Amino acid sequence: MKMKDFKLERYFAQHEFTAKYLLSSSDCDGFEQNYVLDLASAQELKMWNDMKLGYTESAGNPILRESITQFYKTNNIEEVVVGSPGELNYITMKVLLEKQDHVVAVAPAYQSLHEVVHTIGCEISYWKPNENWAFDPNQLEHLVRENTKLIIINFPHNPTGSYLTLSELTQIVSIAKKNDCYIFSDEMYHKLLANPDAELPPISDLYSKGISLWGTSKSFGLAGLRTGWLVCNDLDFIHRVISYKDYLSICSSAPSEILSIIALNHIDDFLQPNIKKIQQNINLFAEFAQTQDIISSFIPPKSGSTAFVELNINCSSLEFSNYLVKNAGIMTIPAEMFDHPGKYIRVGFGRQNFHEILPLLTGFIEQNKSLLMNNVSLK
Ligand SMILES: Cc1ncc(COP(=O)(O)O)c(C=O)c1O
Repeated sequence: MKMKDFKLERYFAQHEFTAKYLLSSSDCDGFEQNYVLDLASAQELKMWNDMKLGYTESAGNPILRESITQFYKTNNIEEVVVGSPGELNYITMKVLLEKQDHVVAVAPAYQSLHEVVHTIGCEISYWKPNENWAFDPNQLEHLVRENTKLIIINFPHNPTGSYLTLSELTQIVSIAKKNDCYIFSDEMYHKLLANPDAELPPISDLYSKGISLWGTSKSFGLAGLRTGWLVCNDLDFIHRVISYKDYLSICSSAPSEILSIIALNHIDDFLQPNIKKIQQNINLFAEFAQTQDIISSFIPPKSGSTAFVELNINCSSLEFSNYLVKNAGIMTIPAEMFDHPGKYIRVGFGRQNFHEILPLLTGFIEQNKSLLMNNVSLK
């Protein structure tokens, strides 16, 4: 089966570099290269200065894999493979699944978490949240079948900002164990939460068939490095991922690997400013939402950098977003990009200029309120 267009990425392609303001980005502002290098120890700086721009190891620079293991129970670098996050997601589905397998996946979700599974021909059952964006593991249990090979989860959740408790995550592990299925846990927003006591362990710490995906794009504000990694105790799985990479990137870029090592070894210098910014912006948006009757529901994210905000409008969310970007230069991601029914936009809290956008949005809403809230077609 052919892969469909990645709606959200196509919508970004249309507006990300032309819209004046981005209100829906899921990543935090990118840090400057000098910020990273200024943090480097003498040894890290030597690595950077002596770097050769040849091919690197397919599994990832061993020093990078060692830096990665400091965040996991395992200290075996063989259980780690480095690649770009989207590539690793794609490969995981390709090496694990065959047509006859059934998959349970969180929904709504970043499209690639479903699309690759569809193209393989597998049937998917969707694990959906309630109206407060809470996901119930008891419901997930009912979706699992005899031929379920894989459970796909994503917490912190994009787009809703939903999160699980440790006992909920443990329940999912028990369900998977009982049915002997893998869990692919997209943890791209790992550690982006204000209360570190609530932080969930990576799935690979809890389950031998648990596959953790994390990277530098979201939590670190280093999306341009294109660095991601999988951690899994199942070495056969890791080896199959490395072999598959031969057909895609083969290996990561040498400069990105060194910058990623430095970032991982100085994580708080990235994470803490990002968490602070996200919290400030959530508070600003909560105040804004209280004064705007066009916002019908704002559930502040429990984790991550995004929320899925319900609008009180008479047009579709796609029409709203198109009209907003065209007339006010503010880009938002509508629910249609997540194949989610209803009138929602994703709001991203990881950008410095967030406070500048809200007054502009207020002005736009005031000017267009009757148009947006009455049944008029938007051009
Ligand atoms: C849940 C989730 N997984 C994976 C990715 C892919 O990350 P990257 O853009 O760094 O490849 C994203 C990006 O938005 C995401 O939101």
